[in-house]
Amino acid sequence: MNLDIAVLSGDGIGPEVTKQAIKTLKAVGEVYNHTFTFKEAPVGAIAIDQTGDPLPEKTLQLCLDSDAVLFGAIGHPKYDNDPSAKVRPEQGLLKLRKSLGLFTNIRPIKAFPTLIEKSPLKEERILGTDLTIYRELTGGIYFGEKKLNKEGSVASDLCEYSDYEIERIAHLAFKAARTRRKKLTLVDKANVLETSRLWRKVVTNIGKSYADVELDFLFVDNAAMQMILNPSQFDVILTENMFGDIISDEGSVIGGSIGLLASASVGDENAMFEPIHGSFPQATGKNIANPIASILSAAMLLEHFKLFEEAKAINKAVEKALEMNVVTPDIDADSKKTTSEVGNFIADYIANAEEIINYN
Ligand code: IPM
Ligand code: MN
Repeated sequence: MNLDIAVLSGDGIGPEVTKQAIKTLKAVGEVYNHTFTFKEAPVGAIAIDQTGDPLPEKTLQLCLDSDAVLFGAIGHPKYDNDPSAKVRPEQGLLKLRKSLGLFTNIRPIKAFPTLIEKSPLKEERILGTDLTIYRELTGGIYFGEKKLNKEGSVASDLCEYSDYEIERIAHLAFKAARTRRKKLTLVDKANVLETSRLWRKVVTNIGKSYADVELDFLFVDNAAMQMILNPSQFDVILTENMFGDIISDEGSVIGGSIGLLASASVGDENAMFEPIHGSFPQATGKNIANPIASILSAAMLLEHFKLFEEAKAINKAVEKALEMNVVTPDIDADSKKTTSEVGNFIADYIANAEEIINYN
């Protein structure tokens, strides 16, 4: 298969970790005879520095012309502490999601057997956790009208959803549940928010055509508690944009490190793959950031194109790295392994296909 991949490595540790994902994809390409072509373009703070725009037209065009986008990270502290900044790196990511129509963000969360004891949560609580969050990505409060009065003393963000926006992601979430444990939990705040009541109504209706999937509902505050009290009760969680943002960071604690969590953002025509972590400015350039979230995002890219064997090869190699403690310090404070060493281990493991067969 030939795939043109746009690489938007972005800010902070983005370039370091994305490099490891590319290395991994190249190893997969060699072993399984695929041609992956990578073209890079700036996004985020780095793009603002170069062009004044967090998502330059050329970058967007490259994404539209590619089969998939591999995204690194976005954000820079100089904007975080400046509420008056007119242009922000994050706007680049939001505009990209919107322009590519990436309305569904899929975030799988698993308790890796080899890491269970490293999670701050009790082993018996997280054992067997295997859930996936379907987060709506192009609507809600992130994209509603924003206002600030002249005096700068009153602000508002509108949270808006249409039935159509809910329907299209709900179908994807129900379909995913069908291939898994056939349970879907809608997380909302229907006791307070009108948008949440619309979500319940629409999702309940769609659920009728997926009668084999058990549908239940949870208020987001309760869901936040259940996520760490008893995460293995969940299979597919469907939720709106901001709730999904929050509970997925919370869920990362189960896996032991946010540096492990990958995601796929998909729409009708485009797809983008990105770690859920941010730009981790304190670690930039130090070769200490965990590349696994980026590498697992590359595996999700392969799955998206139905290259399941290839994706499995990456997953196995990652499991092996974890098992052999070839990990960055976020997972093991005593580990001296660098970002590139972890990437090399994983790519080498894949390149040695025979070893993978034995490992199976
Ligand atoms: C994420 C990030 C983004 C979000 C930020 C960087 C805009 O936190 O992908 O989860 O809030 O969606
Ligand atoms: Mn987030």
